[in-house]
Amino acid sequence: MSLLNHPRRIWLDVAVGSILSSILIIGSLYIYQLNNDARELQLNNALAMRGQTLSTEQGCVACHTMDGSLGIGPSWQGMFGRTETLLSGKTIVVDENYFRESVKDPSRKVVQGFPNVMLPYFLEEDEIVALVEFAKQLAVPVIE
Ligand code: HEC
Repeated sequence: MSLLNHPRRIWLDVAVGSILSSILIIGSLYIYQLNNDARELQLNNALAMRGQTLSTEQGCVACHTMDGSLGIGPSWQGMFGRTETLLSGKTIVVDENYFRESVKDPSRKVVQGFPNVMLPYFLEEDEIVALVEFAKQLAVPVIE
C-alpha cells in the first residue's frame, strides 16, 4: 500500500487541517485587534478620522501599527518627521512627498531593517491627503 492512501494519512490530513485553520483564526483575530487599536485613537479633525478609516479599510494596519509597537512595516507613531535609513544607506526625513511616494511606489525607497513586501496602492488624491493627515497626528505621542 502506498503512503498516499494509507489509512493513517487521514490523521495527518486532520492534523494539518486543524493547524492551518487555527493559524487562520488567530491571524484574523490579530488583524481585528489591530483594526480596533487604530479606531480607538483620539483624533481632533474629520480629515484625520477619514485617514484612520482608510488605514483600516485599505489594510495598512495589517502591517503598520499606530502605537509604536513592532509590525511588518515601521509603526506610524512618530513616523512623520522621523529620519529613516534606507537600504541604500541614504537617510530621508518622512514628509508628505515621501509618504506619497511610499504609497505609490514602496519598493523605490525601502527602509533598512524591513522587508520589501509592501505593494503599490492606487489611491485617490483625497485619500492620500487624509492618510497623510492621520499620520501627521500620530507624530505627536498620544497622552493617555
Ligand atoms: C504587506 C504589509 C504592508 C501593507 C499592507 C502596507 N505597508 Fe506600508 N510598508 C510596509 C513595509 C514592510 C515598509 C518598510 C519597507 C519599505 O520601505 O518598503 C512600509 C513602508 C511604508 C511607508 C514608509 C514608512 C517609513 O517609516 O519610512 C509608508 C508611508 C507606508 N508604508 C504607508 C502605507 C500605507 C498608507 C498603507 C495602506 C494604504 C500601507 N503602507 C500598507 C508594509 C506594508
